[in-house]
Amino acid sequence: MQRAAHTALYVWPHTVSAAMIRQCLKSRVPLQLSSRAYSVVPPPRDSEEKEMLDRILRVDHAGEYGANRIYAGQMAVLGRSRMGPLIQEMWDQEKKHLEKFNEILAENRVRPTALLPLWNVAGFLLGASTAMLGKEGAMACTVAVEESISEHYNSQIRALMEKDPERYTELLQIIKEFRDDEMEHHDTGLEHDAETLPGYWLLKNAIQLGCKAAIYVSTRV
Ligand SMILES: [Fe+2]
Ligand SMILES: [Fe+2]
Repeated sequence: MQRAAHTALYVWPHTVSAAMIRQCLKSRVPLQLSSRAYSVVPPPRDSEEKEMLDRILRVDHAGEYGANRIYAGQMAVLGRSRMGPLIQEMWDQEKKHLEKFNEILAENRVRPTALLPLWNVAGFLLGASTAMLGKEGAMACTVAVEESISEHYNSQIRALMEKDPERYTELLQIIKEFRDDEMEHHDTGLEHDAETLPGYWLLKNAIQLGCKAAIYVSTRV
């Protein structure tokens, strides 16, 4: 058994050590083998694919950036209330989403949207102003924004699946994981009385209109 620790299985093109397998069994994480020369996004084949991938990454990065600013605004107002820990928890997930897209943008030399300074201010103001309506206002904002982001991720998933699911496996995995988180945030908002806010549907529609516009311009600018 002592020798097993140094034994490696050679499965071309991977080398899998016994220690790796033990770690996977222990942590119940599936062993991931990747023979790709890239971590998330394949090197574009032509200018058309480059443009498509740049747009996807740019708008997703902008969305996660905006989401972070919205939660920052909510925390500025409700951070010390009993909603604080719940909002912080969702914000922490958004931080991880943003970090991942920061990484992917840098790795693929994609420039972020030129509108980040605008999303910085607009996101914070949206989060803070809705939080000023109380806990229900903050949750209504969360439901509206997270629904828009989930739908946006879903449409990207559909588009990438139609193009080439094998080629975009890693990117699809990330988008699906984040989409699931956003849906959870959306459900959290509903569970915490978002719909009881007076004028809920009006506010929700107005915010979602804003999200659509933000997605549209962040894809292009
Ligand atoms: Fe997110
Ligand atoms: Fe989210």
